[in-house]
Amino acid sequence: LPIVVLVSGSGSNLQAIIDAAAQDLPVEIRAVISNRADAYGLERAKRAAIPARLLDHTDYPDRESYDRALMALIDDYSPALVVLAGFMRILTPGFVNHYKERLLNIHPSLLPKYRGLHTHQRALEAGDPVHGASVHLVTEELDGGPVILQVRVPVEPDDDESTLAARVLTQEHLIYPLAIRWIAEGRLRVNDGTLELDGQAL
Ligand code: GRF
Repeated sequence: LPIVVLVSGSGSNLQAIIDAAAQDLPVEIRAVISNRADAYGLERAKRAAIPARLLDHTDYPDRESYDRALMALIDDYSPALVVLAGFMRILTPGFVNHYKERLLNIHPSLLPKYRGLHTHQRALEAGDPVHGASVHLVTEELDGGPVILQVRVPVEPDDDESTLAARVLTQEHLIYPLAIRWIAEGRLRVNDGTLELDGQAL
């Protein structure tokens, strides 16, 4: 399955996908694109001999023009799936609809809980005993698309934001490649906006 991965930062989820692809995940990472020059994800791509492209959002006057340029760049690589891996930008409806049902995100909470930012802090403040991460399809609603796969992690009594985030991130590295595998193997289908895995509604 040809994919393009979008990053803004460290790219540890990108690394998990690169590593899985080097094993037996049936994807071809055609490009990694970042909106930030300092994203370490670009370095990870270069090390894996994957085209690493910078498209700096500060070079564009508005969100619409940036997203149009981003779509053009992505489409140069004809991906079947676009994977957001810590891409820290809100996407325009035009962009989201262009990649309808082939745009994937990972979010560090048990959606529909804690859409948006600071999810670990919010889970701690709420006193949640369990936290986690979700892989979902991207729709126009921020962090609101149908969930494909979630992982739950315990919140420990002495956790702070960084220990909890680290525990969640380790699990993200397992579920993101797995969800991508389901898509690459044709096991995950979208039927009228409802997700099916092996023909069973999720
Ligand atoms: C992860 O926590 C992911 O859930 C969120 O952004 C973070 C990206 O981390 N969307 P990394 O760049 O993959 O290390």
